[in-house]
Amino acid sequence: MKAEIFIIGGTIDIPGIVNAPYSTALYLEDDNHRILIDPGSFVVHSSLEEKLVEKGLKTSDITDILLTHFHLDHAYNTIFFENAVIYLHEAYKTKKYEKFGMIVGRLYTMVLKSWKEVKELKGGEKLFGSVEVIHTPWHAKEHLSFIIETENMGKLFLPGDICFTRLDYYEMYKGYRNDEVSKFILERSKEVDLIIFTHDRPLKPFS
Ligand code: NI
Repeated sequence: MKAEIFIIGGTIDIPGIVNAPYSTALYLEDDNHRILIDPGSFVVHSSLEEKLVEKGLKTSDITDILLTHFHLDHAYNTIFFENAVIYLHEAYKTKKYEKFGMIVGRLYTMVLKSWKEVKELKGGEKLFGSVEVIHTPWHAKEHLSFIIETENMGKLFLPGDICFTRLDYYEMYKGYRNDEVSKFILERSKEVDLIIFTHDRPLKPFS
């Protein structure tokens, strides 16, 4: 499996008016699959298009999309990939998205309706021979983390939104937090070459 970061996630914050987080979008490729993890929010649509063009990919070439969880800053751009099978934790079905608000609820419903096929995960799976799936329901009940073996970037840890910036990791590493999440993050980061944060630049784990 080969990996490439398409978009480094972040947050646009204009106090009182705009709070628009957008996730890191990771691209994976092997002989049979062209995969996106968390293709991100509407605010990065033009960067996503540029990356696809640069790689010579059409939206229809993406075969699979993995979601750490179903929040729109990670999942909105799934609507553009007409052939992709969507992978996410089965608990996503238990939420009443239409109740999220008269506009937000409709956005969620629109995204859900755009999916041609969903593969439900429970955690514990190994996908495509190189993606380990871990159920980490501390940010959302359907939340997953991934550990990915790649040929070109080493072993990658995508904790998802349970540790979404470098600052979160620093706090855990320095021992300012002593909860279940930080234990999990510190334990799993020992075995990897790079942590890919959902809303920050990647970082080599401290030893
Ligand atoms: Ni989230």
